[in-house]
Amino acid sequence: MATNRTFTMIKPDAVSNGHIGAILNDIIAAGFKIIAMKYTSLTAETAGQFYAVHAERPFYGELVSFMSSGPIVAAILEKDNAVEDFRKLIGATDPSKAEPGTIRNKYAKSIDANAVHGSDSDENAEIEGRFFFNAFERH
Ligand code: PPS
Repeated sequence: MATNRTFTMIKPDAVSNGHIGAILNDIIAAGFKIIAMKYTSLTAETAGQFYAVHAERPFYGELVSFMSSGPIVAAILEKDNAVEDFRKLIGATDPSKAEPGTIRNKYAKSIDANAVHGSDSDENAEIEGRFFFNAFERH
């Protein structure tokens, strides 16, 4: 059964392009409640750990380098059917294929700098939320 939480990051491209406020507005307008949030950054080491599941993919090095290139915003979000609904809100991984009105359609320029991350399963949402937030912050 679907849980009601997902995890997101506003990625370095969207942060440096000044889109934090607009993206958070879209997230809240779509009915998500922010449970926990922090403005922080990943090192090459922590980005490598976060994306370890993709270690064998050809773009892993670029992904780790990009995700550690500048500040990010990490957040745990709550809504019914959160994982699936958030993936719909952000749109396809490749922004050129993202539906009009989706966050990636509006704020992302390329597949390697695609503005936002959204967990792809309830299990990963839990793992990813724990990666950034301690139990006290996730209550
Ligand atoms: S997804 O969204 O997880 O189903 O997409 P997937 O294709 O499995 O991609 C996994 C993460 O890698 C990012 N990605 C890329 N980065 C750099 N270059 C290329 N070509 C590329 N293709 C995919 C993609 O944005 C996913 O990162 P997150 O943080 O989950 O969005």
